[in-house]
Amino acid sequence: MTFSQRLIGWYRKNKRELPWRNTNDAYLIWLSEIILQQTRVDQGMPYYLRFVDAYPDVKSFAAASEDEILRLWQGLGYYSRGRNMLKTARKVVVEHSGKFPERYEDLIKLVGIGEYTASAISSFSSNEAKAVVDGNVYRFLSRYFGVDTPINSTIGKKEFQALADEVLDHENAGEHNQAMIEFGALQCKPKNPSCELCPFNDSCFAFEQSKVNVLPVKLKKLKIRERVFYFFLVMKNNQILMKRRINSDIWAGLNDLPSIEFAERTSVNELMIHPDFKAWFNTDCVIHSISDEIKHILTHQRLFARFVHVDKVNEEFLSKNDWFWVKIDELDQYGQPKLIFDFVKKFLN
Ligand code: ADE
Repeated sequence: MTFSQRLIGWYRKNKRELPWRNTNDAYLIWLSEIILQQTRVDQGMPYYLRFVDAYPDVKSFAAASEDEILRLWQGLGYYSRGRNMLKTARKVVVEHSGKFPERYEDLIKLVGIGEYTASAISSFSSNEAKAVVDGNVYRFLSRYFGVDTPINSTIGKKEFQALADEVLDHENAGEHNQAMIEFGALQCKPKNPSCELCPFNDSCFAFEQSKVNVLPVKLKKLKIRERVFYFFLVMKNNQILMKRRINSDIWAGLNDLPSIEFAERTSVNELMIHPDFKAWFNTDCVIHSISDEIKHILTHQRLFARFVHVDKVNEEFLSKNDWFWVKIDELDQYGQPKLIFDFVKKFLN
């Protein structure tokens, strides 16, 4: 028996009855796959059924307003997916005369459809021999063949796609792909799979080597921290107010401007009621200008900065905060982060 025959034998006995499996309508398969990228099968099901009910074909979907689509999408999150679906539906109506494409080459050109989705739709709708690789498939292949290349690395993605292509049954690609996904979801589960009951346990690398719990390998992506700052530009007699940065944060030891940090993007109105702002600038200060947001990327942080030009500062805070005046023509002698240096330079010119 081939790999695929064994897999499909398991699938026919164990598969769940899911509504998008009883159709070869590319539009319905597209709907289900986009929803399932966003949520689990049990949570996605009611969304799928509501969408099919409201928009039984791509023409009716394309005729909907964005508000109507987003209302049905509500709760799935990542609303650009919903918006992209509408773009794609409208493109299909115009460029494919309202018939949802079934060929991989046509599908991959549509917004919101990547390699996985194009393979899924083309194989499920017309048996095109394109192997799907989703999280379920990565897990199964990695364990069965003992591949420890990280699944979220560029080389790993290539390697796993090649493996999936190799085991694909070209005559029965749709059912084979469904079976791969189902096997990963039900049998080769992430945690505590029942390997004793597995039809592949006589030849599974991870089972034989007790590596089920360590495969697949995933590279840990360092979390990028996002920070929001308002920086204050205060000038007096050709001087600019600066401060030295403490050592336990970004830009240790460099000089920058007085600032207030927020946990998330904050309006100027909220800034103006911040206790530091009220104390530093009194109520009679005048805000001359506020810059657009500037995005600044550091190795593990992403900064969103706006510069506020304020006419004067409450001088009692100078000594309290270790702020000091720097003559504009001596500014270059003070080490500054590039974000600050570039902005101040542009501002002064
Ligand atoms: N997850 C993504 N696509 C799926 C499908 N067709 N069936 C079950 N789960 C899925």
